[in-house]
Amino acid sequence: MSERASATARRVERSAPVGVLDFAHWKRERRPISVLTAYDHTMARLLDEAGVDCLLVGDSLGTVVQGHDTTLPVTLDQMIYHAEMVARGASRALVVADLPFGSYQESVGQAIGSATRMLKETRVRAVKLEGGVARAATIRSLVEAGIPVMGHIGLTPQAVYQLGGYRVQRDEERLLADAVAVAEAGAFAVVIECVPAELAARITATVPIPTIGIGAGPECDGQVLVTPDLLGLFDAFRPKFVRRYAELGETIRAAARAYVADVSERRFPDESESFR
Ligand code: KIV
Repeated sequence: MSERASATARRVERSAPVGVLDFAHWKRERRPISVLTAYDHTMARLLDEAGVDCLLVGDSLGTVVQGHDTTLPVTLDQMIYHAEMVARGASRALVVADLPFGSYQESVGQAIGSATRMLKETRVRAVKLEGGVARAATIRSLVEAGIPVMGHIGLTPQAVYQLGGYRVQRDEERLLADAVAVAEAGAFAVVIECVPAELAARITATVPIPTIGIGAGPECDGQVLVTPDLLGLFDAFRPKFVRRYAELGETIRAAARAYVADVSERRFPDESESFR
């Protein structure tokens, strides 16, 4: 481990669990916020130990865990199942869970019911939901009920059919209005997905809450990536904005090939791996 990485690890070890108020503080201090997705306990523990500030139990699990084409089939029960495992794996990172498609759009009452279940049954400390101006009333009611909310604007995957696909969102006035509406409704942060860097920078300078970018350039207050993308585990498509920090897909294939060869040649298990 480099000196800088071990200094970060020591600082992180000593520090208290991250709360939503830290996000506001970090925006004021211009301290970048790191967010990654997590879907299970083992990965949550590893990412937490590495010092990631926030773990998002994203409904992207519909594509990268369940193998669907979109996030639309994911259910609230499935999100709760994954969020509970992630929350048990994180001791420092703030854990936020997505409310999936169909669990909050019907009414404010439905949204409060879904978010309440999420917090009670999983011990995550905040929920994320998609939409700007159209979801402001829902966000306000959740916040008034004491439930911290992370917003999500720009390319909102739950609206993929309405948006005509997974495309960069460029409508400047609409996106600014969405960001302002989410902030005024009381969200503690907002994800901005697939928006030109200049526009994301303008939104970041306009709203008082931290912006967390994905495909939204370097000037957001924080960044989020889908962990299987970052680790090289997911190959179905490779968005331009993903930086791959590892090629674990190749590592896993090589390990499995070596195991198959050892079993076929009776090299596994050997004496040291057997009981007598
Ligand atoms: O579901 C998810 O993983 C997300 C991130 C891409 C922000 O919403």
